[in-house]
Amino acid sequence: MSIIESNLDEKRSFSPSKDLKTNANFSNEDFLSLTKQFKNDRNKTWADLANSNILWDKSFSNVISGEAPFYKWFCDGKLNVSKNCVDRHISNSKSAIIYISENNEKKVLSYSDLYIYINKFSYALRELGLCCGDRVIIYMPTIPESIVAMLSCARLGLIHSVVFAGFSSNALRERIIDSRARAIITVNAFKRSGKIINSKEIVDEAIKVDCDFVDKVIIYENHTLLTNKKTRDVLWSEILPKDDKYIDPISMNSDALLFILYTSGSTGKPKGIMHASGGYLLNCIITNKWVFDLKDQDIFWCTADIGWITGHSYVVYGPLACGATILIYDGAPLFPHSSRFWEIIQENRVSVFYTAPTAIRTLMKVGENDPNNYNLESLRILGTVGEPINPKAWMWYYEKVGRNLCPIVDTWWQTETGANMIAPIPGINSLVPGTCTRPLPGIDAAIVDPDGKELTKPNQGGDLVIKQPWPSMLAGIWGNPDRYVKTYWSKYSSKYYVTGDTARYDEDGNIWIMGRSDDVVNVSGHRLGTMEIESALVSHDLVAEAAVVSYKHEIKGEAIHAFISLKNNSNNKIELADDLRGWVSLKIGSIAKPERISFSDSLPKTRSGKIMRRLLRNLARQEDITGDTSTLENESIIEQLKEIV
Ligand code: PRX
Repeated sequence: MSIIESNLDEKRSFSPSKDLKTNANFSNEDFLSLTKQFKNDRNKTWADLANSNILWDKSFSNVISGEAPFYKWFCDGKLNVSKNCVDRHISNSKSAIIYISENNEKKVLSYSDLYIYINKFSYALRELGLCCGDRVIIYMPTIPESIVAMLSCARLGLIHSVVFAGFSSNALRERIIDSRARAIITVNAFKRSGKIINSKEIVDEAIKVDCDFVDKVIIYENHTLLTNKKTRDVLWSEILPKDDKYIDPISMNSDALLFILYTSGSTGKPKGIMHASGGYLLNCIITNKWVFDLKDQDIFWCTADIGWITGHSYVVYGPLACGATILIYDGAPLFPHSSRFWEIIQENRVSVFYTAPTAIRTLMKVGENDPNNYNLESLRILGTVGEPINPKAWMWYYEKVGRNLCPIVDTWWQTETGANMIAPIPGINSLVPGTCTRPLPGIDAAIVDPDGKELTKPNQGGDLVIKQPWPSMLAGIWGNPDRYVKTYWSKYSSKYYVTGDTARYDEDGNIWIMGRSDDVVNVSGHRLGTMEIESALVSHDLVAEAAVVSYKHEIKGEAIHAFISLKNNSNNKIELADDLRGWVSLKIGSIAKPERISFSDSLPKTRSGKIMRRLLRNLARQEDITGDTSTLENESIIEQLKEIV
């Protein structure tokens, strides 16, 4: 059986500083000892971690139960996630949330402010008649109130489903209907890049027909825009009690659902990924401590919107459960100027900064030297997530933003995995630009060939699988158990969780993500990961972004089509295309040379910044665009591409 070939060679390596080796939360000794404990008794080790990191109302006797693959974690234990995130930290007078708006207003909430606010809003939700197990859609930007809404749901045992505030009414409607939500919490409006987005109008449109099951729409008046109130609408300010209230956090079973978060599949309607309480919280906590080395004095800015899993695990649940101070910015990265991020870091002394490769590449493109103009000395840990980071962007992030001092934790994980799975630990792992390094303790990852046989030698690419269940794994797909089994567990006779990504080891045992398994091209019998070709293209001086897909080719079987956006559009395209072919040949080998190259102003992306290769594949193959396009950010680019392809 063929395996995927890899030809990308990266030799730069950065070892942990002496300071991190000595002072990081998780030392090499801790690592060795925990790895040994996991080897000796997996369940006991998870139980010990759960006992030492979570505040249980009733302890558990069962670590893992349920019929495969419907695993339940710490099943008979009881806890409340909101209590874990807030109540246990109110005795110290620390800031919980630093909020910055797009027009630079700043609000700071201490843990006790947050506690009071959550209790009041929980009271309001209860008075509306919402009860345990009801689904609540949260369609709000990243503001303190959306975090209050999430944690109030958790306090009452309501299952929230946050829908990214940039989604259209169609996408929102689909999620409301699928989850049969009893309530929707939204804002009247918010600003993005100076433009007003009227969220309330979008909600009205989404539930206009066939949504009688929605009892209440709660509107937080986030903007001066007048709210057009309908019968089922209530204002946040009307229902919030004037006096302080105390609402007992409900003791929930550990396997009770905390939230549903919708994520796009490659075909069909979005999948409602379900996460349960205790197991999810555990991996969120330990990864914040281990991977981000989160300490009491840190100010953690994860730039993800709360509408994505990163916003759930590394803005809200993980850092707050650790008692950290989080910074949230409700605005566009380049508004009102291209150094907004650097300005916020400088003004607020951010120490841990977590963002996505797409943001890094954009910032590098708009202002390569901009970080030099700011004092970024407060930074000590940098992180990245969401897609492979090409070594060139990694080096820029390391040198310009981190001043050659901050480790970059390249964290591999998914909506489904709940928390970081493969990632460096700052005091332990040497970093190599482009690899997410090694699985975290307790995470049993492997790379397998099409027969399910483990590939252990360097540079053999195969499917990345997880061999053993882990606490923050998804609890299933809302309303669709068969799709859960089929998508994640059926490929290798139900033995492994199938991530859908391909990966390889390098000579040092680091894992390199090569792309999604459907992002593999087979050229003249050689299977190549598209990410490697993209990475080679992006390392060319003139290229800003690149996406590579395959199309059928008479002689080669499949050939490569590269879609490219340039830093500067004025170059001669024919000459440059030839140049780039030569460049890829040089970097990877002539086998990887793109047969076709199309240049456009930008590439089609999801609102979370991922390039939508599926659409590019349709274009390259001259097929109609099929499947869900509701997440597409810049629709006009498709028209531009249709004309040139
Ligand atoms: O393909 C992998 C890529 O993003 C996918 C998960 O996407 P999503 O569920 O939206 O969650 C994103 C935030 C966790 C993965 O299957 N991915 C995520 N992190 C990395 C990555 N690819 C390479 N390197 C990463 N660090």
